[in-house]
Amino acid sequence: MSTVKLAPSILSADFARLGQQVAEAAQAGADRIHVDVMDGHFVPNLSMGPVVVQSLRRVTDLPLEIHLMISNPDSFLDEFVAAGSDSFLVHWEGNDNLHRTVQRIRQLGKRATVAINPATPVAVLEEIVSDLDQVLVMTVNPGFGHQQFIARTLPKIGRARELVERRQPLCEVEVDGGIDAETAPLVVRAGATVLVAGSAIFSDRDGVAVAMRRLRTAIGDAGETEAAGRSALQRS
Ligand code: DX5
Ligand code: ZN
Repeated sequence: MSTVKLAPSILSADFARLGQQVAEAAQAGADRIHVDVMDGHFVPNLSMGPVVVQSLRRVTDLPLEIHLMISNPDSFLDEFVAAGSDSFLVHWEGNDNLHRTVQRIRQLGKRATVAINPATPVAVLEEIVSDLDQVLVMTVNPGFGHQQFIARTLPKIGRARELVERRQPLCEVEVDGGIDAETAPLVVRAGATVLVAGSAIFSDRDGVAVAMRRLRTAIGDAGETEAAGRSALQRS
């Protein structure tokens, strides 16, 4: 049984059928719903805001995690909380007062994640990780769905795992971008415990349930291989 969590990103969902798509994901065993918020400034794209969260809150009990790819995350936290958000993912990049942002999130009673872009080293998390519930290693540059997984982020996931084990063992390691049945086992083996997937779930021709099963199977295989490897080691 896999302990890896799946967080479908609705950025790739059909917005005309958003409630239905989220219900399908929930039924297929999604652990959370990942909501990508973009302001056209922090990243070169626009997406959604609190009104979408408010609508989602009415149709699902799943935790709603809000990935803020915006220039002033602090100014929107209250609005997103009022809309029904459960946790916030804020970027290290462009935030000169990250500790303050994280404290505000915690004061609001929400889970806090700090995200780092592909070119940002894990070391920047050293002094903040003990305040976090999760770190997010971006496996693409933020801003768009359907991008190709950047393989060079794999050893970085391992370094993030090593950091949380050392300083904040309950902290989760999440990855976001280019996660599909091929890359999922690689990131799990590298140390990720939560996988965000957008296009691999919502753009699959066979539908959300089949797509999620495919991801689970891929991860299950990785888990078994790892476990088999471990017991072989123990035997020897
Ligand atoms: C990208 C977003 C991702 C995006 C992932 O900036 O943060 O959450 O939806 O999409 P896929 O899984 O298609 O790479
Ligand atoms: Zn995201």
